[in-house]
Amino acid sequence: MNRKPIGVFDSGVGGLTTVRQLLRLLPNEKIVYFGDTARVPYGTKSKKTIVRFTTENVLFLLEKKVKLIVIACNTSSSLALPAIKKHFNIPMVGVIEPAVKAALRISRSGRIGVIGTRATIDSKIYENQIKQHNRKIEVFTQACPLFVPFVEEGWLDNAAIRNVAETYLSELRKKKIDTLILGCTHYPLLKKIIAQVLGKGVVLIDSGQEAALSVSKILEERNLSAPDSTKVRSAVFFVSDEPSRFQRLGRKFLKNHINNIQRVSR
Ligand code: DGL
Repeated sequence: MNRKPIGVFDSGVGGLTTVRQLLRLLPNEKIVYFGDTARVPYGTKSKKTIVRFTTENVLFLLEKKVKLIVIACNTSSSLALPAIKKHFNIPMVGVIEPAVKAALRISRSGRIGVIGTRATIDSKIYENQIKQHNRKIEVFTQACPLFVPFVEEGWLDNAAIRNVAETYLSELRKKKIDTLILGCTHYPLLKKIIAQVLGKGVVLIDSGQEAALSVSKILEERNLSAPDSTKVRSAVFFVSDEPSRFQRLGRKFLKNHINNIQRVSR
């Protein structure tokens, strides 16, 4: 069991930000990644569709005999994980709960911001989970749907993205938050510009990084960690559309070359 891989999926390439954190934190683990590149984006789709896609992705990873599944996609974690979790007998880690816990730990002022896709923000999952822990915390949210195409275009730091970030974040800036959850796979690549627009004193929480920490804890608690000696740091990748765009874009998200990409039909 311990030598089995960890399964990770996302709607596309963005979940590689989480894979990067997993490989850093857990170098002994093997990773099987699925990017649903034929059906991305999920952030504009209905709950029903997202639940269906997510279920199919989980079933695909189960076929690969994984020992734990990480739902790196914030949109899937928000809309599908709560509905499907009970139907599967395997540990599943989404990106919402770990980010919420980190925000509650870090925020001093009790004023927390959340940004994500339209579907994630409309689901209100972040507010609901934060309020379940502490009703007094004030949560301010903002959907930033244009951030994803800007990141995929590689526009991480130019006048156009600055303009978009200033427009999206201007209301949040007025709310005097001290913590912001980056509730989407792509947003860690915009950390620099988001931090500049919000100004000093706002801690940015990378939900993929928090999820990786949570995975590490669960593996330990359940005695599922890979043997220490392996140090494989290996990952194989499956995508549902032609792999070349995934390979090209993926380098930016993973900060490393990607080989081992196979296309599967959907
Ligand atoms: N991976 C998605 C998320 O984290 C962003 C891209 C999409 O809309 O599918 O919400």
